[in-house]
Amino acid sequence: MKRIVVLASGNGSNFESIVKKTREWKLNIEITALITDNKNAFAVKRAGRLKVPVIILHYGDFVSKDEYNRILLEELKRLSPHLIVLAGYMRILPPFIVNEFRRKIINIHPSLLPAFPGLNAIERAFRAGVKYTGITIHYVDEGVDTGEIIEQRCIRIRGGETLSSLEKRIHRLEHYYYPRVIKDLLTEQSRSDIII
Ligand code: GRF
Repeated sequence: MKRIVVLASGNGSNFESIVKKTREWKLNIEITALITDNKNAFAVKRAGRLKVPVIILHYGDFVSKDEYNRILLEELKRLSPHLIVLAGYMRILPPFIVNEFRRKIINIHPSLLPAFPGLNAIERAFRAGVKYTGITIHYVDEGVDTGEIIEQRCIRIRGGETLSSLEKRIHRLEHYYYPRVIKDLLTEQSRSDIII
């Protein structure tokens, strides 16, 4: 059984789609835990409903960033995941965590990296007037959204598109592709099935 740990800080819609799809596909993959730095994250409620164990490391309860990250590393080592999946995790992982799990941590970002790294990527792309945007799934390195790209999917911004319609389309794309990329990484299947 391959173990996944998901890190999320907020809504958790990607977390939910990963749990549902991996279960629906009856893969040899279990979501061992959701770890969150935010006890109020909606992702925590989703985890309760989906019966995924939750580990709350509420950031505000720690004396320093370093202490928080040390405990996070301990938890991750204890869970010994095959893959750590960032899904709306709003903190930068420090080098000592990235190093410990090199090429075992992935992230999803709602733009076509290297365009629009960092926060509010959908809105920034929309306001910049680009004709195409999309999603990127990448390995996590020490930088902000700079790790090696695993998969990208692109959508055309339509005439009459609003920020809200674009957000919906981006999230649909994320929910579709993130579980599929995870499945392929953990089952070492060819990716040809998802290449259009
Ligand atoms: C997604 O848009 C993801 O690309 C970004 O954060 C958002 C998380 O959404 N990293 P959710 O919490 O999974 O709903």
